[in-house]
Order: sequence, then structure tokens, then C-alpha cells
Amino acid sequence: MKKTKALYEGKAKILWETDSPDYMVQEFKNDATAFDGTKHEVIAGKGVLNNRISSHLFGLLKDKGVRTHFIEKISDNEMVVERLEMLRVEVVVRNVAAGSICRRLGIEALKRFDPPIVEFYLKDDDLHDPIITQDHIRIMELATQEQVDQMRSDALTINTVMRGFLEQRDMVLVDYKLEFGLKGDELVLGDEISPDTCRFHDAKTGEIMDKDRFRQDMGGFIEAYTEVLERVSS
Ligand code: TMP
Ligand code: ASP
Repeated sequence: MKKTKALYEGKAKILWETDSPDYMVQEFKNDATAFDGTKHEVIAGKGVLNNRISSHLFGLLKDKGVRTHFIEKISDNEMVVERLEMLRVEVVVRNVAAGSICRRLGIEALKRFDPPIVEFYLKDDDLHDPIITQDHIRIMELATQEQVDQMRSDALTINTVMRGFLEQRDMVLVDYKLEFGLKGDELVLGDEISPDTCRFHDAKTGEIMDKDRFRQDMGGFIEAYTEVLERVSS
């Protein structure tokens, strides 16, 4: 498969069209951004780590019967994915309180949510990705009610699979963000699953193993992502 032209360049990835209309190449960049892109750094090695981690986690989900866009990893920082019509919705699942839910609702950090919480956000940088309700999704025609129900149910299935897998590797899946797209009428999981889009804590020490190290200037960023890769590939 040959890359033809870059269709979309985001903060952390480039999506390339290929000589096949059904497939794209997803390239992981070394750029790290936070706070709507106002904080930005280039971190050597990040793209390779996220491509590897994402490939492992998509592979795991595929084995468990979750429909994803992932086809195969083709180089250090690239994977082939199915071409989807992406929905303008981000789905966040939270098992443990961290980040925006603490700021927004005054919930104490590390409070456990059982059952987990599912939230929807509008994918719109200019509006700072606001949280939205299912009614907002309906009036903005971002997805049908059936697709919303399916995203919620897929997000919770993915939670069960990933949580169990990570628990066995001494990691707590705190929260994560998913993006879905359509292949015809079929809802398919797209984007990436990496420490950029998930929060992972070490189960024994509570150590932060994700992009919060960058957001909070904690250092040890590449070391933490390398440790995540080692654990998910073990
Ligand atoms: P939040 O605490 O900032 O709402 O983030 C919840 C989870 O979603 C966290 O694992 C990071 C991820 N996330 C993204 O991947 N992209 C985003 O733009 C945002 C806001 C969150
Ligand atoms: N990735 C998003 C940004 O660049 C938000 C975040 O993950 O903090 O703003």
C-alpha cells in the first residue's frame, strides 16, 4: 500500500490517503500537546511508543471481538487503518476521578466510580471540546440514538476488556477517550488508544504513567510510556 497525500494533520497524528480508497495510513508524530494545544513540545520517541502501544491495544480489542479500524502496524510510527467517516463526538469512560471531572464538579481525585461513568464531548477545538448530553447529540445530528447507544455499550465493553488486561499488568485504567466512525452503516472504533488518550496509574505505587506527566511537567515522560509498552506487550 502506498501513501498518496496527507488528508488530515492533527496535533499528534497525520492521516494519509493511500492508493486504496478503503485504507489509510495513520502516522504517529512526536508532538505532545495539552490544554487545547497551548502547551506544545516535540518529544523524540513518542510517536514510535504510541504506535506500538496502540497496535497492541487495538489487537487485544480485535481478539475480543470489538470492531476497530486497526489493520496492521507497518513501520515504527505508522499503522494501516480502515477509512472511516468520523463522528464529531469524543466518548470518555471514567473508572477513577482525575482531570476535568475533578475541576468541573469538585469531585475528589482518585474517587472510584463503580459502575464507570460515560461522557460525551463535542470534538471542536474552537469551542474547547465541551461536554454534551445525548439530547445535544440528537439536535446537532452528530449521531443517531442507535449510534449513541452503541458507542456507550462498545465503550463499556472496551472498558471491561482493557481494565482486566491492565489489572493483570499492575496498571489501573483511570479513564480514556475513544473516537468512533462509520464504515457504511457500521460503527467502528477509530483514532488511537495510548497514554496520550488514556490515564494509567501503577496499581502498586499509584505512579502516573500517561500524558499527565507532560501536562503537569512531572518529567519521566518517555520512561513512563516505555514502561506502558513493556507491560502491554508482556
Ligand atoms: P479529561 O480529564 O481532560 O476530561 O480527560 C479524560 C480522558 O480523555 C483522559 O484520559 C485524556 C483523554 N482526552 C483525550 O485523549 N483528548 C482530549 O482532548 C481530552 C480533553 C481528553
Ligand atoms: N490533547 C488535547 C490538547 O492538545 C487535550 C489534552 O489531552 O490535554 O489540548
